[in-house]
Amino acid sequence: MSIAEKFVSMEYGPAPEDSREAVAWLERHGYRFQHFIGGGWQAPAAGEFFDTVDPSNGEKLASIAQGSAADVDAAVKAARAASSGWRALTPHARARYLYAIARLVQKHSRLLAVLETMDNGKPIRESRDIDIPLVARHFYHHAGWAQLLVQEFPEYIACGVVGQIIPWNFPLLMLAWKIAPALATGNTVVLKPAEFTPLTALAFAGICQEAGLPAGVVNIVTGDGSTGEALVKHPDVDKIAFTGSTEVGRAIRAATATTHKRLSLELGGKSPFIVFEDADLDSTVEGLVDGIWFNQGQVCCAGSRLLMQESIAEGLIAKIQDRMSTLRIGAPLDKAIDIGAIVAKVQLDRIRKLVDQGVADGATCWQPQVTLPTRGFYYPPTLLSNVHPTSIVAQQEIFGPVLAAMTFRTPSEAVELANNTVYGLAACVWSESINVALHVAAQLKAGVVWVNCTNLFDASCGFGGYRESGYGREGGREGLLEYMEPAWFKSAPALPAEKQAPPEPELDEDSTASGINTPAIDRTVKLYIGGKQARPDSGYSMEVRASDGRLLGEAPLGNRKDIRNAVEAARKATSWAKATAHNRAQVLYYCAENLSQRRDEIAHRLAAVVGDQQAAAEVDLGIERIFSYAAWADKFDGAVHNPPFRNVAIAMNEAIGTVSIICPREAPLLGFLSVVMPALAVGNTVIAVPSEAYPLITGDLYQLFDTSDLPGGAVNIVTGYTSQLLKTLAEHDDVDAIWCFSDEASAAAAKAMSIGNLKQVWTNEGRAIDWFNPKLAEGRWFLEHATQVKNIWVPYGE
Ligand code: NAI
Repeated sequence: MSIAEKFVSMEYGPAPEDSREAVAWLERHGYRFQHFIGGGWQAPAAGEFFDTVDPSNGEKLASIAQGSAADVDAAVKAARAASSGWRALTPHARARYLYAIARLVQKHSRLLAVLETMDNGKPIRESRDIDIPLVARHFYHHAGWAQLLVQEFPEYIACGVVGQIIPWNFPLLMLAWKIAPALATGNTVVLKPAEFTPLTALAFAGICQEAGLPAGVVNIVTGDGSTGEALVKHPDVDKIAFTGSTEVGRAIRAATATTHKRLSLELGGKSPFIVFEDADLDSTVEGLVDGIWFNQGQVCCAGSRLLMQESIAEGLIAKIQDRMSTLRIGAPLDKAIDIGAIVAKVQLDRIRKLVDQGVADGATCWQPQVTLPTRGFYYPPTLLSNVHPTSIVAQQEIFGPVLAAMTFRTPSEAVELANNTVYGLAACVWSESINVALHVAAQLKAGVVWVNCTNLFDASCGFGGYRESGYGREGGREGLLEYMEPAWFKSAPALPAEKQAPPEPELDEDSTASGINTPAIDRTVKLYIGGKQARPDSGYSMEVRASDGRLLGEAPLGNRKDIRNAVEAARKATSWAKATAHNRAQVLYYCAENLSQRRDEIAHRLAAVVGDQQAAAEVDLGIERIFSYAAWADKFDGAVHNPPFRNVAIAMNEAIGTVSIICPREAPLLGFLSVVMPALAVGNTVIAVPSEAYPLITGDLYQLFDTSDLPGGAVNIVTGYTSQLLKTLAEHDDVDAIWCFSDEASAAAAKAMSIGNLKQVWTNEGRAIDWFNPKLAEGRWFLEHATQVKNIWVPYGE
């Protein structure tokens, strides 16, 4: 072939990366790996091994220990034994270990990149230039956090022993995202890599040895889902961090509900890639290559839903098809390959099945003319157009190199389509108008939004989802908080168990029974829904008694229908979320002012239940608490990160949405204000269930809110039996988060019953919080739970 001909065809020969070092490493280990426990290799108790396979050719790479419950137990014991020593180290000493790990990752980067590609099938270009450098960056960044920990988080301590379960799509990077923050904050770790890709985690065990990391600080137990399950269920694990499928995320939520284990979940996504007609289409197409064909599309935040403005759709599709035709697919160790192998046969079958279903749903399938290798697991880049927004390929995560394309006409239609998913991990917006891009970015329900860029990650910027994409963040300051707790919280005393509520009265839904006006009592209250007093649907009420047994009044027994109405009112109260922070602060100050004016009468009534002294303190501290959150309303700002690219990442503290709150029983007024005010201050709308001991406080509260210009629906109050209302609230799909400050059983119930839409759960774990101590009962800890961080990445420069 002449040079001129070569210039036309752009054909070039294979350029394989040298795998000798990786093969020598496998050979040194005898192609057989045990668990890494307590600083050394340990044979699996049951003596079982499984194969890990090179997906580019289907050949076995090595035998890997299958972890049993006994192996997990040994690893947890080793982590526990190492815990106090690791925690007792100075921050500087821990920083040095993390720094040593970062250096060693760099030193062994070639081995790690080749191993990753052999085990996972991803192109060497990606493992060499993206995965491994990001791993090193993560350890460097967190070496810094370890150093600064005491100055920056003086009130916090490590969770303890952390169980971490990771997937196969970015094996070593996910390990780094999990282990670096855990170690930096003083935890010890048991990590289970995915069964398809354990090799780089085992190589990392060698790095821990080389760095001289104390035995037991990092333990690696290999195995399949059953090993993960044993780790989740181990009673001596303090926190579980999981990345993987939403289905397994749900199972883990259910399995940990009755425990005090903290949980962070990074689950699936179906991220929109929105292209406006003024976008630079050539850049957009390159962005799309990174968005959906990076790592064969096996990326939780892959831009798998292409939303194109109608006017440019035809031209854009043509450009995409042209570009797809130039993508090179083949042996992933070849340095000139764009698309490597799918991780395993089962994943390949899953992709095929979903694409077939999409076509059956009416989508048009287009694939470039490519010859796939005859061995191994490959799938060509695929474009599905004419996809209906409700089609399975527009809704379900395919986790393969498959793009589903749809059109929109207006920016608001784009937002609606983009948010029409149960997920909320990431999104891309392409437009040359920064105003349009940022306006749209703000409305997208996603933890990360890339403007005119895609799939950028950095250790300084939190990553994580909204809605069924999970909760918690990895990276950044917020990622550290996932591995720590306020020092006082773990040892706070348990609250007494709540009395069981009587069974819910049997009533038909339309019942309008009256009868809450029992004579001879001085007080009845109503529910407060949408800014109005409302009669309960059931018509039933509960008696409220003073500490001396005297009947004080009656409060309505709210039921499912009342909760539904309250949730609807809260969702409609969009003006509160859109109000400026200054505006929200003003309303809260006004609440405090009105409470102050009615101080004596409210304290007098409350005294019948909690005594004179507590009642006076509740009102006085309540005024202060509202002042605090009025103060915070316009100060709980986000941050602007400077990742090592020509980008800024704007980290915004966004309200979660509609939050339902079971308020503390023990301090009917102050407890209510302590939990409702932080949620309100940052722009959430709230459905609150007040203290069962004194639900009559509702009457005082709605007068307070009514006279303070709080928009109707921003706070809704439903009185009744906590256990019954908790169930309805936890199961309601339009509630985004549930907070429960009650006994241990209620905390467990809130977690177990909220798995439907994976709403964020925050509880007191059944422990007593001293609401009268502002150091414990107000401030950032509450505000951090009331918000979720959205990172909007914006490039700059030419
Ligand atoms: P998976 O969720 O089953 O596996 C992820 C990890 O969880 C692995 O280490 C696995 O061994 C472990 N695991 C499985 N069952 C468990 C259990 N009951 N308790 C504790 N740990 C358990 O994901 P899988 O089956 O590998 O992939 C299926 C689909 O999940 C993919 O097609 C993709 O849609 C999605 N997925 C999403 C990921 C993400 O990063 N968001 C990563 C991997 C898969």
